[in-house]
Amino acid sequence: MKQNIYDNNKFFQQYQAIRVRENNYNNLLEQPNFFTLIPSLKDKVVLDIGCGMGDFAAYCISQGAKHVTGIDISFNMIGNAKERYIHECLTFEQVAFEDMTVPNGSIDFVSSSLAFHYIADFQLLIKKISTALCEEGILLFSINHPIVAANKGKESWVTDQEGNLLHYAVDNYQDEGLRTQNWLVDNVMMYHRTMSTILNTLIESGLQIEKIIEPIPTNEAVCNLPSLNKEFRRPSFLIVRAKKV
Ligand SMILES: C[S@@+](CC[C@H](N)C(=O)[O-])C[C@H]1O[C@@H](n2cnc3c(N)ncnc32)[C@H](O)[C@@H]1O
Repeated sequence: MKQNIYDNNKFFQQYQAIRVRENNYNNLLEQPNFFTLIPSLKDKVVLDIGCGMGDFAAYCISQGAKHVTGIDISFNMIGNAKERYIHECLTFEQVAFEDMTVPNGSIDFVSSSLAFHYIADFQLLIKKISTALCEEGILLFSINHPIVAANKGKESWVTDQEGNLLHYAVDNYQDEGLRTQNWLVDNVMMYHRTMSTILNTLIESGLQIEKIIEPIPTNEAVCNLPSLNKEFRRPSFLIVRAKKV
């Protein structure tokens, strides 16, 4: 089932408030690592899935991409993207990826930052991307790390009586599927899959895994956002780059 939570106005306002802060997990941890795996964009046809407010799509244009399509299920997100970035080689479309038709072998680079954990059918998602990619085309995506996504609604950090972190408790790891949780608002739907499901789905869809990152913050990032210290104990994100073979 598809949920369009970014068009819930309370959720969207709180999400925007996080994203405008300079020191957030995206800017200090996920994005810097994601950017290390971007292929050459010159003259490439790019599809950004769950493009949000369009920053990455616009970045691809600035790096010489031939055409970039940013798609997102959310009216709020696409509205923002269209307002902020206008270019003849840039198209934004409000559509769920599940409902989108992409011609076979037409895309050089599919990117997606922190959107795949909202999509229920991972097998179908990756199969469709693999079909859309041309030979040697690249898929680069980030998601919530499976050891974080696994837990069902419990506080995962275990603390002592003084509030010091003792350890991170991973539970229900092998029980894949929907996790309905409170993140900014109640009843946000996300999907957990194990590391083996994620990697084997790529392999079985004809994608060769090239690099995996479980981001660790720089010392400077930790100075700017001390909660990032926890990333040395367990990763929040998983970033994967794979090539169509
Ligand atoms: C965490 S935001 C990330 C936005 C953007 N990639 C970024 O990094 O700034 C996740 C995005 O995925 C979009 N999304 C969720 N489910 C989707 C679906 N089924 N198809 C397309 N977009 C989806 C949401 O609307 C949201 O904009």
